[in-house]
Amino acid sequence: MEILLTGGAGFIGSAVAARLVEAGHGVRVLDALLPAVHPSGRPTVLPEGVEFRQGDVRDRETVERALNGVDAVCHQAAMVGLGLDLDDAPDYVGCNDLGTSVLLAAMARGGVRELVLAGSMVVYGEGSYRCATHGDVAPGPRRPTDLDAGRFEPPCPQCGAPLAPGLVGEEAPADPRNVYAVTKLAQEQLAAAWARACGGRVLSLRYHNVYGPGMPRDTPYAGVASLFRSALARGEAPRVFEDGGQRRDFVHVGDVASANLAALAAVAARPAGSARTYNVGSGSVHTVGEMALALAAAYGGPAPVVTGEYRLGDVRHITADSARLRAELGWRPEVSFAEGMTEFAAAPLRG
Ligand SMILES: NC(=O)c1ccc[n+]([C@@H]2O[C@H](COP(=O)([O-])OP(=O)(O)OC[C@H]3O[C@@H](n4cnc5c(N)ncnc54)[C@H](O)[C@@H]3O)[C@@H](O)[C@H]2O)c1
Ligand SMILES: [Zn+2]
Repeated sequence: MEILLTGGAGFIGSAVAARLVEAGHGVRVLDALLPAVHPSGRPTVLPEGVEFRQGDVRDRETVERALNGVDAVCHQAAMVGLGLDLDDAPDYVGCNDLGTSVLLAAMARGGVRELVLAGSMVVYGEGSYRCATHGDVAPGPRRPTDLDAGRFEPPCPQCGAPLAPGLVGEEAPADPRNVYAVTKLAQEQLAAAWARACGGRVLSLRYHNVYGPGMPRDTPYAGVASLFRSALARGEAPRVFEDGGQRRDFVHVGDVASANLAALAAVAARPAGSARTYNVGSGSVHTVGEMALALAAAYGGPAPVVTGEYRLGDVRHITADSARLRAELGWRPEVSFAEGMTEFAAAPLRG
C-alpha cells in the first residue's frame, strides 16, 4: 500500500514509519516540523525509503499534492499535551481540527477512502468508577478547593463516598476535560462525519500514555514519562504531582506502531461509511508514582519527589480496556512495563 503518514517526523509517527517500511509499504510523510517539538528544525531521522515532505495539514494545496497516488492515510499530526495556557487553544484547534478537516476534504475530493486516526484516551475524561451504593458513576471535574486540600480522589457525585476506578471501554461516553481533549474528540467526530458523507472508512486508535525511545524532551507539550526522564538526565529528581497515586496505562511506542499497522491492514475491509474506535493500552495498570520509581531505579537515581502540586486539566485515574483491539484486529502488546521502563531509562530523547 501507498500510505500518507501525517506527523511522521514525530515521536509516534516515526515509529509507525519504521514499521510500515519494514512491512513493505510505500510511505510518504507530511510533517510541518512544529518548532515546539522540533526545536532544531531538522526532521527526525526517518528510515530509508520514506519520502519526507515538510508541510502543514492546514494547507489545502500541500495536502492535495501529498495525497497523489495514496491508498490510505495514517493521520498522526497534531499538537499534543496540555499546552501552556489558553493562548495555545487556537493553535490546538487549528492544527488538530482545522487540519483534520482540510485533510478529510482533500481525501474526499481525491478519492482516498481509508483513514487510520491517532485518537486519545483523553476523550474519556475521568473514565469509569464504581460506587459501592450507586454502581457505575461518572464523577465531574475535580474542584480546586479539594485539590488544594490534597483531596485528589474524585468522590461519588451522588453520595460523596470513595470510588473504585475501573477500565474504560470504547462505548463509555466522551467527557473531554481540556482543550487538547476537545480537539482529539472533534477529530474523531469530523472523521466519522466524513466517512458517512463520502463512503469512507475510519479506524481511530485511542492511545493511552505512550512512552519509549524518541520521546520529545520536556516541554509543556510532552508526556509525563518524558518529563521524568528529562529530569533524571539533568541529575534532578522526577517531580510527581498529587500524591503519585494517579492510575495510568503506559504503552510502548513500538506497540502503538504495531496497532497502526494492524488498523491499516483492516480498514479496507470495513463497511463503507463506517467509523470504529479502539483503545490502545498495554493492559497493565500502574500509578504515575510507580512509573517515576521504576524509571529512577533503572536510571540509577535520584529518587522521585512527590510534590502535591496539581494541574487542573489532569484527571485522577484513567485506564483503558483494550480487549476490542485484541479481539478484532489481533493486536498484542509485546513490551512489558518493566522491560519498557528499563529501555526508556537508557534511550535517547528527541531534540
Ligand atoms: N504521546 C502520547 O502519549 C499520545 C497519547 C495519545 C494520543 N497521541 C496522539 O498521537 C499523535 C502523535 O503524537 P506524538 O506523541 O508523536 O507527538 P509529536 O509532537 O512527537 O508528533 C506530532 C507531529 O505532528 C506534527 N504536526 C503538528 N501539527 C502539524 C500540522 N498542522 N501539519 C503537519 N504536521 C503537524 C509535528 O511537527 C510533529 O512532528 C497525535 O495525534 C497525538 O494526539 C499521543
Ligand atoms: Zn455513591
